[in-house]
Amino acid sequence: MSKMDRRAASKLIATATASLLLPHPSMQKTMNKRAIPSTGEMLPIVGLGTWQSFDVGSSESERAPLREVLQILVDAGGSLIDSSPMYGRSEAVVGDLTTELGLKPKIYEATKVWTSGRDAGISQMEKSMALMKASTMDLMQIHNLLDWQTHIKTLKNWKAEGKIRYIGITHYHSGGYAEMERIMKSEPIDFIQINYNLNVQGAADRILPLAQDRGIAVIINRPYEGGSLFRAVKGKSVPDWAGEFNATSWGQIFLKFILAHPAVNCVIPGTSKAKHMKDNVQAGFGRLPSPEQIKMLNKIVS
Ligand SMILES: NC(=O)c1ccc[n+]([C@@H]2O[C@H](COP(=O)([O-])OP(=O)(O)OC[C@H]3O[C@@H](n4cnc5c(N)ncnc54)[C@H](OP(=O)(O)O)[C@@H]3O)[C@@H](O)[C@H]2O)c1
Repeated sequence: MSKMDRRAASKLIATATASLLLPHPSMQKTMNKRAIPSTGEMLPIVGLGTWQSFDVGSSESERAPLREVLQILVDAGGSLIDSSPMYGRSEAVVGDLTTELGLKPKIYEATKVWTSGRDAGISQMEKSMALMKASTMDLMQIHNLLDWQTHIKTLKNWKAEGKIRYIGITHYHSGGYAEMERIMKSEPIDFIQINYNLNVQGAADRILPLAQDRGIAVIINRPYEGGSLFRAVKGKSVPDWAGEFNATSWGQIFLKFILAHPAVNCVIPGTSKAKHMKDNVQAGFGRLPSPEQIKMLNKIVS
């Protein structure tokens, strides 16, 4: 056997062995989890965003599909639900439906503070917790870093008092990265929430490596770039080789691209459709793309 053949053969054996060690997705009962660095608590890797999708009224026709979405998330082993006072009625709808369905013990609830001033922040967060019917909020995040210098003091106190379990900060575009980096270097935050997807990868330059260095958990918002990623592949069939990392749809490919980054804890695609939620949770099972497959995925959107 030539040197080249030997190298190729040992690579093949290594790949086959690694594959054997992983359960086939059909054998996996619950989705994969990753540890929150500040505590070691395990968090399932696919969650749910509620911007627009959960801003609905109280009619049965509006709420029934959302009940189904929540049940699919939890049945698959997912838990993180992300909301904000910026999302209209979403916090109240999450609170109502998770209570009705008896999902409270199984979910990881996250919302945000999105106002200026100490007292306004406190009353907004108290209202959010009441709307979400949460006696303790798992994760409270400062939305788009708005007046973070004020809210961070309240959040540190609230964490010490046990009103919230984790502190986070969020942004959704590159205009917020520099300030986010400064906060990550100077404040004891547990989480950041940031945008990153196949089309917009700026967070991988500095933010994601910094999160790894500082032991900060990462939630990825806008994983489908608000849905525009699907338009970029319209009419293109899902490549066969995506099956090697257990992806059978474009949605699963897009989410698994993000989850292949080692800094990422959880993705939170937004949806109000059961069909899409079923698709999204599948990204939490099975293998992830290899570095070589990541290169091939990058060519698809370039
Ligand atoms: N600054 C911040 O803190 C911030 C900013 C932005 C977002 N966020 C959070 O991140 C979450 C996600 O971001 P996003 O909602 O803006 O955008 P996104 O998740 O990138 O995209 C949502 C869009 O993708 C569609 N979709 C979802 N699953 C799909 C699937 N499997 N197949 C095809 N289409 C699918 C949805 O349509 P359907 O409803 O028809 O499924 C919706 O139009 C938000 O809901 C929010 O919780 C936070």
